[in-house]
Amino acid sequence: MPGVTNAAAVPPFAGAGNLIYRATEVPRFVRGSGCHLESDDGRRYLDAEAANGTLALGYDASILQEAARRCLDLPALPSFCESPFRLGLLERLERLFSGVLGVPGRVELDLGGAQGMETALRIAFSANGPGTVVVFEGAFHGRSGVTSMLSASPRYRELLAAWGLEVVRLPSPDCRTCPHADRSSDRCGTGCVGAVTRWGSELSGVGGTGFRRKVSAFVFEAVQNVGGMVVPDPALLRAAVDHARAQGAVVIADEIFTGMHRVGPRWGFELAGVEPDVVVTSKGLTNGGAALSAVWAREPLADADHYPPGSHSSTFVGIPHALAVADTVLDRWEEWRTVRDDVELLADGMRKRLAYLAEAHPVLVSRTDATGGTARIVLTGPHAPRLRQLCGTVHPRLGLLVASTGMAPDVINIHPPLVITPEELDAMNEVLDLALGAVEMELPCG
Ligand SMILES: Cc1ncc(COP(=O)(O)O)c(C=O)c1O
Repeated sequence: MPGVTNAAAVPPFAGAGNLIYRATEVPRFVRGSGCHLESDDGRRYLDAEAANGTLALGYDASILQEAARRCLDLPALPSFCESPFRLGLLERLERLFSGVLGVPGRVELDLGGAQGMETALRIAFSANGPGTVVVFEGAFHGRSGVTSMLSASPRYRELLAAWGLEVVRLPSPDCRTCPHADRSSDRCGTGCVGAVTRWGSELSGVGGTGFRRKVSAFVFEAVQNVGGMVVPDPALLRAAVDHARAQGAVVIADEIFTGMHRVGPRWGFELAGVEPDVVVTSKGLTNGGAALSAVWAREPLADADHYPPGSHSSTFVGIPHALAVADTVLDRWEEWRTVRDDVELLADGMRKRLAYLAEAHPVLVSRTDATGGTARIVLTGPHAPRLRQLCGTVHPRLGLLVASTGMAPDVINIHPPLVITPEELDAMNEVLDLALGAVEMELPCG
């Protein structure tokens, strides 16, 4: 039965529903440095999923040490108390967004990705009233009660429902699954653009400007991570954003994964040249060292008239440790002046190496792609969970951590620390090559 794992791997005192235990082999990690982890049996693992995209700068203990120094003398203030340190961080964060978008905004902090998305919705609903939310098929915006309503997979909301939210899904931006796609090309045709810009009319059933019950927010990912590392055609995304704005919706970019150079530019929305009203980011802010998300909203969406004091609070949102980690990580980003070029080099390096794998394993690999610090191997069938598992075990000396998701079981997602070296990419390919060979042997005709 899919999803049922080796119960023996779950200790009797640990919650078995944790994603950790979806695998039959569960290494227990005790150390990390650079792009590598080490488990308690001494095995080394190359982390090509960067702790789920959080670890852009690699396992770097000096970040936490520096952050600890910055917050040693700070009081542990509750969420409703202001401090110069928090204000300093908010100002730095705000510049990250307005510096790119060229318009001023305000920043709110939250505890993690899903909570940040809920805050973004709260800001949109404050402006527009609580209405319909439009997302793409294949979207993933978190597993909290509200965000699981936005996420594509029904599995995420089976156990935790917030049924009050009306969500409309536009066709997938993945040409492999979009029903309107011209299969001979990777670009969206007029049919696809038509499909994402039809709503807002009497005919579509989804209210626009002329209706009392209208769309409050349009939410998108510049690159769908959980959906299978899908890069929407820029023309499609631009059309969807323009249409949403024309219908009065607040345009929310979920940059929780794509933000801070994961896909090349600082923000993923720069790839398509779209300009959101609200941006949520998280993983690139703390290098895995603290739970924190930042929600930026262009003026006046988060001013006191639109989003009155008291609209938002959470006990641990302002804890000094998390603020200090973000402050330290922002310094590291500022110091990395060549990051854009370096991430392009990384994309090239992954592209070339994965192309070799596609050539060497034509039965199993249908295509490979790389965008910034992300890449994917598209398989000819739903072999990704097995391949991911073998990546951990197939090589005698090195395990490899790569991602696969329930939404795209034919895709291996790769998003290593952005500081990964060419030699480490070679090692990644060596393990992938072996693992692909092992899966081939298991195929009925292997
Ligand atoms: C695009 C995107 N949105 C939202 C989330 C949810 O973030 P969190 O797990 O911190 O709640 C994730 C996490 O993987 C994500 O990749």
